[in-house]
Amino acid sequence: MFRLARRVAVCALVLCAWSVRAAGACPSACECSEAAQTVKCVSRELREVPRGIPGYARNLFILGNRIRRLAPGAFSGLENVTNLSLSNNRIVEVESHSFGALRSLRSLDLSGNQLALIHPEALAVPGSPLRELNLSRALYNRSAAADLATALRWGALSGLQALDLSANRLLFLPAAMFAPLPALRRLTLANNSLLALPNGSFLGLEALEDLDLSLNGFRAFRREALRELDRLGRARLRLAHNPLACVCGLEEFCAWLNASLGRVQDGERLACSSPPELRNASLSALGGRALGCHGDGAGQGAGLALQTSYVLLGLVLGLVGVLFLFVLYLNRHGIKKWALETREACREVLEGYHYRYEIDSDPRLGQICTSGDL
Ligand SMILES: *[C@@H]1O[C@H](CO)[C@@H](O)[C@H](O)[C@H]1NC(C)=O
Ligand SMILES: *[C@@H]1O[C@H](CO)[C@@H](O)[C@H](O)[C@H]1NC(C)=O
Ligand SMILES: *[C@@H]1O[C@H](CO)[C@@H](O)[C@H](O)[C@H]1NC(C)=O
Ligand SMILES: *[C@@H]1O[C@H](CO)[C@@H](O)[C@H](O)[C@H]1NC(C)=O
Ligand SMILES: *[C@@H]1O[C@H](CO)[C@@H](O)[C@H](O)[C@H]1NC(C)=O
Ligand SMILES: *[C@@H]1O[C@H](CO)[C@@H](O)[C@H](O)[C@H]1NC(C)=O
Ligand SMILES: *[C@@H]1O[C@H](CO)[C@@H](O)[C@H](O)[C@H]1NC(C)=O
Ligand SMILES: *[C@@H]1O[C@H](CO)[C@@H](O)[C@H](O)[C@H]1NC(C)=O
Repeated sequence: MFRLARRVAVCALVLCAWSVRAAGACPSACECSEAAQTVKCVSRELREVPRGIPGYARNLFILGNRIRRLAPGAFSGLENVTNLSLSNNRIVEVESHSFGALRSLRSLDLSGNQLALIHPEALAVPGSPLRELNLSRALYNRSAAADLATALRWGALSGLQALDLSANRLLFLPAAMFAPLPALRRLTLANNSLLALPNGSFLGLEALEDLDLSLNGFRAFRREALRELDRLGRARLRLAHNPLACVCGLEEFCAWLNASLGRVQDGERLACSSPPELRNASLSALGGRALGCHGDGAGQGAGLALQTSYVLLGLVLGLVGVLFLFVLYLNRHGIKKWALETREACREVLEGYHYRYEIDSDPRLGQICTSGDL
C-alpha cells in the first residue's frame, strides 16, 4: 500500500516536472539560459538534484551544494545534457544507473566530493557516450578506489578518453584497473601517494597519449615500473615532484630517462629530494655519476675499504709474529739443547771432513804418512 502511494507520488512529481519543463521554467535555486543551453545551481545548499531542470539544457552545473546521494532517476528527462558538473557537493554515494538517463553525456565532473559508496553500475550510461570523467579529490578512501575499479569494469566505458584521478591519496592502483578503458588517452594520477607500479598497473591502455604521475611518493622508478611505463608505447609522461632518492638504486632510472627524454615532458624538472647533500639537485644535470655507483663517492668508499683491510692484515701478521716469539721463548731450553746437539753433530761431521780434507789435500802429509808407513 505504502509502495503504491510512493509510486503515485513519484508519478505525480515526474508529471509535474514534465509540465514545468514544457513551460520552459527554471528551478528556483538555479539560473537558466535557454540561449546558452545552460543551467547553473551554485552554492544554494541543495540537498538533492533539483526537479524541473529544462530539457534544452546541454550544460548543467550543480556546484557547491550538499547533495549526499545520487539516486537513479535524478536526471530523468535530461537527454540533451552533454556536460554535467557536480563538483564540491559532498556526495557520498552514487547508486547504480544514476546517470542512466543522460544519453548525450560526454563530460562528467564529480571532483571535490567524498565518494565512499560507488555502486557497480554507477557510471553506466546506455550507448557509452561518456568521454571525460573527473574524479579529482573525489574518493573518500581506499575502499572507494576499489569500488571505482569495479564501476569502471561494469560501466562499459568503452569511449572514455580522459580520466582525472588526481589528489585522491591513492597508495596503489587496483590491478588492471584501467583495462576496461581501451580508448583512454589522458590519465591523471598526479598528487596521490603512489610508491610503485606493479606488473599490470597499466594493462590494456593501448591508446594512452598522456600520463601524469607527478606529485606522488615515488622514491625510485624500479625495473618493474619502467617496464609498465614502456608498455605505454609513446605516451607522454609527467614525473616531476616525486621524492627521488638519488642513490645507487636510481641508476637504472637515470639510464632509462636519458633514453626517454623525448617522452618525459618534465624531465628537466626532475630533482633529488635525498640524500641531504643532493637535495634539489636536478637529475638531468647530475647524470649517473653522483649516484655513488661508479663515481667519486664509490672510489672513496673502495679506498677506505682497502685501507681497512690493510690495517687488519697488519694486525693479524703482528699477532702471528708475537705468538711465534712467545712460543720460541717458552721452548728456549729445548731449543738451546737442540742447538747444542746440532752443533755437536755438525762439528763431528765437519771434523771428519776436515780430517779427510787435510789428508787428501796435502801431498806431503800423504807422503809422510806413506813414508812413515814404510
Ligand atoms: C533535446 O534537444 C532536441 C534538439 O535540440 C529537442 O528537439 C528536444 O526536444 C530536446 N529534448 C528535451 C527533453 O527537451
Ligand atoms: C563541455 O565538455 C567538453 C568536453 O567534452 C568541453 O570541451 C567543453 O568546453 C565543455 N563545455 C562547457 C560549457 O563546460
Ligand atoms: C578536474 O577537476 C579539478 C578540480 O575541479 C580541476 O582542477 C581539473 O582541471 C579537472 N580536470 C580536468 C582533466 O579537467
Ligand atoms: C572507507 O569508508 C567507508 C565508509 O566510511 C568504511 O565503511 C570503510 O571501512 C572504509 N574503508 C577503509 C579501507 O578505510
Ligand atoms: C594535492 O591534494 C591535496 C588534497 O588531497 C590538496 O589539498 C592539495 O592542494 C593538492 N596539491 C596540489 C599541488 O594540487
Ligand atoms: C606480468 O603480468 C603478465 C600478465 O598480466 C604476465 O604474462 C607476465 O609474465 C608478468 N611479468 C612478470 C615479470 O611478472
Ligand atoms: C628546493 O627548491 C624549492 C623550489 O624550487 C625551494 O622552495 C626550496 O627552498 C629548495 N630547497 C633547498 C633545500 O634548496
Ligand atoms: C645519454 O645518452 C647518450 C646517447 O643517447 C649517451 O651518449 C650518453 O652517454 C648518455 N648519458 C648517460 C649519463 O647515460
